[in-house]
Amino acid sequence: MNAIIKEKIAHWKNKIKKTGIQSIDKHHLKFIDLYEHFSMMQEKKSCVEEITSLFYKLSFHVENYFLEEEIYLKQYNYPKLQEHQEAHNAFIQRILYFQREYQAGNTDICFPIIEYLEEWFDEHIIQSDNEAVDFLLQHDAK
Ligand SMILES: [Fe+2]
Repeated sequence: MNAIIKEKIAHWKNKIKKTGIQSIDKHHLKFIDLYEHFSMMQEKKSCVEEITSLFYKLSFHVENYFLEEEIYLKQYNYPKLQEHQEAHNAFIQRILYFQREYQAGNTDICFPIIEYLEEWFDEHIIQSDNEAVDFLLQHDAK
């Protein structure tokens, strides 16, 4: 793995707030795994051969993770729930867009996916999710 990717992963791991709620913490780490996986495939130039299984893993993971997170936020009446859900939906739409692009013959999508995942870490996971986690912790969520 190249140094830049390692550095990014270390930065995110450092910034992601732990909830103590296993399903949420576990999912954040899984996201890091997936990012690492995509980046390594990109480095080995084998992303295109493996993209179908990566799409599958990504959508399977994301669906579970978003749902569990939203259930928690709903249960504790998170005031920004709707906004948060909209961000999750936008993520799903973007992944579907990448999938359609790939099916339409655009095989040059590994890098844009990686860039999008990086954006997602910076803008959602370590900001919006951390804000939601603070809220959950203040409300003693378990
Ligand atoms: Fe979220």
